[in-house]
Amino acid sequence: MKEKLDAMLVAANEAMAAAVDEAALQDIRVSYLGKKGQLTSIMKGMGGLSAEERPIVGAVANRVKDQVFETFEARLKKLKAELMTSRLEHEKIDVTLPGRRNDSGTKHPVTLVTEELIDIFSALGFCVAEGPEVEQDFYNFEALNIPKDHPARDMQDTFYINDEVVLRTHTSPVQIRSMLKQPPPLRIIAPGTVYRRDSDITHSPMFHQIEGFMVDENITFGDLKGVLTTFIHECFGKKVGVRFRPSFFPFTEPSAEVDIQCVICGGKGCRVCGNSGWLEILGSGMIDPEVFKSVEYDSDCYSGFAFGMGLERIAMLKYGVNDLRLFFENDVRFLRQF
Ligand code: PHE
Repeated sequence: MKEKLDAMLVAANEAMAAAVDEAALQDIRVSYLGKKGQLTSIMKGMGGLSAEERPIVGAVANRVKDQVFETFEARLKKLKAELMTSRLEHEKIDVTLPGRRNDSGTKHPVTLVTEELIDIFSALGFCVAEGPEVEQDFYNFEALNIPKDHPARDMQDTFYINDEVVLRTHTSPVQIRSMLKQPPPLRIIAPGTVYRRDSDITHSPMFHQIEGFMVDENITFGDLKGVLTTFIHECFGKKVGVRFRPSFFPFTEPSAEVDIQCVICGGKGCRVCGNSGWLEILGSGMIDPEVFKSVEYDSDCYSGFAFGMGLERIAMLKYGVNDLRLFFENDVRFLRQF
């Protein structure tokens, strides 16, 4: 009996040493020490032993039972420690590693300038309007007092879809569309894409303009100067010099081109301003009575001014960009800087 118990202890120790996880170890414990376990059955069967044998075998059985339990507890502790070590190893996080950033885009410089101009003119009471890029001859030319034989309609400049439909060459047709839709007073800006058959370092066949116009009773050239000077000071700083130069547009009379003091050299003269110290930034003028006629506004009661400018040009001057093509190549190394 004693040998059988000792053999059982050896077998139990071996089995437990080989257990790979806690569940296997618990199964082994139950198979020896559980209600129906091997050791438990032996102890239950001790009633059949003689009075001399019983205490001896009982002592051995108790020792074996204690030892099996001790081995079990030691092995359990070891398995738990191993499990912890392996988890620490596998779930290790290096908090010093740099985080993974979400790559987020930036706004295109032309978008930034458009938004800034909309903000400036909104503060002056102007509302945003839009028109189609594929435009009828009537809105792009005819109603703007550009007759069929005007040089601006030359095939050189205009993309024709057919005889009556063009890709708009400027945002001025939005003037006509807006005035046909509502009576004065009117204060509108119209940003958008325009197209011209022109492509070199300073011209792109597709570019952006913003149009602005105001119509009411008693609008004078003084209003035009006031609004545009305010805009330029907001956009380029209060110190920049502004100059109004006589010019010509078929849809305005009188017309003026507006120059600002060169933002690169401050007016001293440099390559960018062609040594003149001035940069042309927009075209403007008092809306021609011929235009009012085509939208059936009474030019005896109403007057107004209009202006238009290239957004790429404004962006180049504001951000010091020296090549127009950079705006259209969409190289992320360029775009990320904004
Ligand atoms: N449409 C003109 C252009 O594209 C600009 C302009 C707009 C001039 C409004 C005067 C008034 O050059």
